[in-house]
Order: sequence, then structure tokens, then C-alpha cells
Amino acid sequence: MLAGYLTLLLFITLVHPTVQDTNADLDQWISKQDIISFQTIHQNVNPHGTKRGFFAASLSTYHPNYFYTWTRDAALVARVLTGLDETSDDTLMDYVQFQIDTQSTETQCGCLGEPKFNTDGSSYQGTWGRPQNDGPAERAVAFMLIAKRWMDNGYQETAWIYHHLVPSLVKDLDYVVKVWYQDSFDLWEEVLGTHFYTLMIMRRALLDSVDFFNAYGKRPVDQYRLTAHLIAKRLEGFWSVEHGYIMATQGVRNGVQKLSGLDVSTLLAANLVASRKDGFFSPGSDKTLATVAALENSFKSLYPINHQQGQNLGTCIGRYPEDIYDGYDTSVGNPWFLATAAFTELYYLAIEEWKRVGVEVNDINQLFFQNIMQIEHGYYGPQSNVLNHLIKDTQLAADRFLKTIKYHQANNGSMSEQYDRYIGFMAGARDLTWSHAAFISASRAKSERFIQ
Ligand SMILES: *[C@@H]1O[C@H](CO)[C@@H](O)[C@H](O)[C@H]1NC(C)=O
Repeated sequence: MLAGYLTLLLFITLVHPTVQDTNADLDQWISKQDIISFQTIHQNVNPHGTKRGFFAASLSTYHPNYFYTWTRDAALVARVLTGLDETSDDTLMDYVQFQIDTQSTETQCGCLGEPKFNTDGSSYQGTWGRPQNDGPAERAVAFMLIAKRWMDNGYQETAWIYHHLVPSLVKDLDYVVKVWYQDSFDLWEEVLGTHFYTLMIMRRALLDSVDFFNAYGKRPVDQYRLTAHLIAKRLEGFWSVEHGYIMATQGVRNGVQKLSGLDVSTLLAANLVASRKDGFFSPGSDKTLATVAALENSFKSLYPINHQQGQNLGTCIGRYPEDIYDGYDTSVGNPWFLATAAFTELYYLAIEEWKRVGVEVNDINQLFFQNIMQIEHGYYGPQSNVLNHLIKDTQLAADRFLKTIKYHQANNGSMSEQYDRYIGFMAGARDLTWSHAAFISASRAKSERFIQ
């Protein structure tokens, strides 16, 4: 009798494994979600009644109102769209035109670091954290990618690019040269100080511009190269030997206090500069991996939902441990879809880097590898057995974050800004455009078609 019962139990366990996604399930979901995310982004681009080229942060107009275009969000989304063949060049052209106009729009800041604009293209006039100096750098990166795409496939007259896009690009680059060492608000719009993320994207924009003008423009680039060099020196100082991770901000003057200094923005920055392939705080570099481990371990203990996650799911990731923005108001912070997607993307970008240059397991990054597999300190070259094994396990870990997104998003593929730290339900602005762009970026990294 008892044996029969046990057999039945075993049978049930085997036939009904706990909601475990197979790889085929995951792949099938990813192909579907790629399409949904692409479509959702387009619903948020130039919605009815807005000026052409307006990229809404979300269509949510109330509780919270995100029906504005942020220079940052729009540029990050445009960057992803530029990397997709199915994006129409007209959409990119609208984006470029709209952004060129904002540069000469009257703003409270009176500078290119004005963070957000209204549906008609005028600037937001209310009280806000100004300036936000990552915006012009992100836009410069997007503009160069768009210009390259057009020149490579002959969509746009070269003359138009030189007379319209490039002058606007130069304004942004010159602005970065002028302001890079000044205080500005961070990408979360809360802290006035000097930010790792902002400097990283500024450095990328300047280095990209050196390549861009050497190839296409024949403009003097010495100032851009020199500034990128100075920024790199400054960035080195964000590594904390004491903490063993990258600190997000230095010289906080105002705003939210973050005692830990941990912030997922440092990893968003690593993902954004991966295409430089120079190993400088890149996804596979030891200091970035140390920061990945510190952030993951911190969120793992902080969010109650992480204590109930199945083995099959990855850790729910938020912005920073001290976060109190719940998507509507202030109470307690939650995990974010774009932060969770960034982990998948970072792991796959790290794998790409290790395949090229190998990996060194050392005191700095050992915590990261402890979360992946047992591995001795030492250097493992490309093609080595240990590295191949490590890559397989890292891929599994990367996919677990995607499974977390799949689990907490809506069944119809919708993704808001956040998901609740206790029960996982979606929270905050519905279908945040950036959430969907972050998913596509992660999905492309998994299939080794990296967004540049
Ligand atoms: C998708 O699901 C969410 C959450 O259930 C819901 O709020 C939203 O309206 C749905 N979207 C569509 C297009 O049906």
C-alpha cells in the first residue's frame, strides 16, 4: 500500500515537474516576446496627437504620468531600434528631426542637459532635476549609429547627414567636452553629483566620435580624444578597494542618499560600452563582475520575493538597495524589468569578451564566479576546457534572469517599469518603452547579434 502510494507520488512528481521551463519553452517565448516588444515600442513612438518623432517613455498619462519624451530614454530606445533590420529608416529620421529641434528649444536648464520634453516638442517647465548630462552623450551615440546605418545602406543623402545630423551631433559632443566634470543629476533623476554611468556613456560618445569623424567626417577630433582620456582617469576612481565594487556616484551634493554606493546603473554602463571592446569596465572585466556579484547578493537578501524564487528563476534585480520609489510614489523600491534584463545582457556580453581574450579568475571577481561554478583562481584562455564549461554555466545563469522576466510579466507580453518586491505583480508605468528595449537588447545578446 505504502509502496503503491510512493510510486504514485513519484509518478506525479515526474509527470508534473514544478513549472520548469525547458530551453525550447524559453526560446519560443523569446521569439514571441521579441515581436511583442518591437510592436509595443512602436505603439509608444509618435502616439496620436504628438509631434512626429516623439518617443513616449510610456503611454501612462496618470498615476504615474510618463507621457513625455526623455532625451535619455528616447536615445537608448533609438539605439536598439537602429540595430534592428525591421526598423524603418523613417522612424529613425523622425527621431533625429525631433531631437535636432529640441536642441534649439527654450528650456529651464538653458542647456542641452534638459531631461524631458512635452508631446508637442516644447520643454517641460516644472521643477525637475536639472541638468541630466548623460542625455546628450546617449543621443550622440544614437546619432552616429543612425548615420552609419544610413551611409552603409544609402537611405539618406550624405549631404543631409552632413548638413543636419552632424552639426547637431557636434553640439552634443562639444557640450560633453564642456561639462563632463560638472555636477549633474543621475539617470534616475534623483542625485546631484558625479556619476559613473554618466561619465561612461560620455567616454563612449567621444571615442565613437573619433572613429566616426576619422572614417566619415574629417573633423578635428583631438579635443574629443583628450577628453575621453581625462574621463577615463576620473572613472578609475569609482572603483572602491574597500567595498570591492564600483561606486555609482561621487561628490553627492543633493538628493537621495545611498549608503552602499551600489547601483545597477554601473552595469547598464558596462553594457552600453561593450561595443568599444577595450576592456575598460567592460562586462567581462573583473571589476564589473565584482559589482554584478555585490548587486545580485544585495537584492537576493533585500527582496522577499527572492526568498521564494524557484531554483529555475534568477534573482529579481532592482535599481539600488536604498530605492524607495515604488513606481507611483515613495514607499519601498521594487525590482525593475530593465535591470533584470541587463543582467542577462551583461552575462552574454561577458561571454563574448571571454571568448576573445580569455578570463582571469582573481580576488576581485571571485564572488561572481562563486555564484556560477567552482573554479580555481588563474587564467583560462579562449578554447580552454575550463572556459567552455564556465561559458555553459554562465549561459544557464543568464537565461534564468530571462525566465524571471517571463514569470513576472503579463501573459500578453506586457512589461511595466517594475514588479512588486513581495508578490511579483507588475507595478509602475505600464509598458515602459525602455523595458521593452532592454528586453530586445538582452535577447539579441543571447543570440550573439549584439546591439552596438
Ligand atoms: C496586458 O495585460 C495587462 C496586465 O494584465 C493589462 O493591464 C493590459 O491591458 C493588457 N494589454 C493588452 C493589449 O491587452
